[in-house]
Amino acid sequence: MRLQSKVAIITGGASGIGRETCRLFAREGAKVAVIDVNEQQGMQTVDLIKESGGEAFFVRCDVSKEDDVIRMAARVVERYRKIDVLFNNATWYTIAAATEMPLADWQKTLDINLTGPFLCCKYVLPEMMKNGGSIINTSSVGGTSAFYKHPAYNAAKAGVNLLTKNLALDYGKHQVRVNCISPGIIETPLTQQDLQDPERAAKLMERCFTGRIGQPADIAYAALYLASDESTFVTGSNMMVDNGWTAR
Ligand SMILES: NC(=O)c1ccc[n+]([C@@H]2O[C@H](COP(=O)([O-])OP(=O)(O)OC[C@H]3O[C@@H](n4cnc5c(N)ncnc54)[C@H](O)[C@@H]3O)[C@@H](O)[C@H]2O)c1
Repeated sequence: MRLQSKVAIITGGASGIGRETCRLFAREGAKVAVIDVNEQQGMQTVDLIKESGGEAFFVRCDVSKEDDVIRMAARVVERYRKIDVLFNNATWYTIAAATEMPLADWQKTLDINLTGPFLCCKYVLPEMMKNGGSIINTSSVGGTSAFYKHPAYNAAKAGVNLLTKNLALDYGKHQVRVNCISPGIIETPLTQQDLQDPERAAKLMERCFTGRIGQPADIAYAALYLASDESTFVTGSNMMVDNGWTAR
């Protein structure tokens, strides 16, 4: 029960890493606000938690829309009276080199991956500053190294890395810690297509020093450490959970 009596907001909680983290945090005693645009799958996450005896509720929220985020933060405080943990994890992107990328796709990628975490922090921090707390942003190895045809995603995740450090600096005096996690290749609906293509999967496997692709739990356990009181001396960090990808 490493998160006993803590209240956690998890964006992108309807799928992949977000869902696994919602379930782990609930098992560790947190009350979990599952945040996503996908209502049906978000409700499934809540059901899975409740079936295991945990506490959770769903709020539909597009993290790139300011009004949605304001309403979401208010609903969590109304229900659980406080916010201890925010895991900014939702994502969306398209794959295209810069010359082929419509401006709308560039903009949407930045809106969801970078402006979304900014907005969630902006509207959760006032509540979190009352008792201290932990913000965890999901970056990516793509925030440190370039991927072919991911200009917007690479730029957004690199932005997340410095947003993390900036917020850690500004809000440390309020006992709010801000860290990010940079996952390597993790098996989720996002990467399903790549991993089903044998040639592509072999290339990705070459990046994994111990010869295995990651599972959502690999990231959820890193988030658990950063959310818990075991990490109270850790802020402004970027934890590489990438099986060596960026070490080469
Ligand atoms: N899977 C990987 O290999 C990998 C690698 C590096 C980083 N990441 C990062 O990990 C995080 C989780 O990725 P995943 O693989 O679990 O993805 P996923 O596609 O399984 O889940 C993403 C979730 O975000 C939600 N979402 C999309 N737009 C949203 C919006 N505007 N507002 C709220 N929710 C929205 C989706 O509905 C979905 O439930 C992302 O930030 C991703 O960039 C993943």
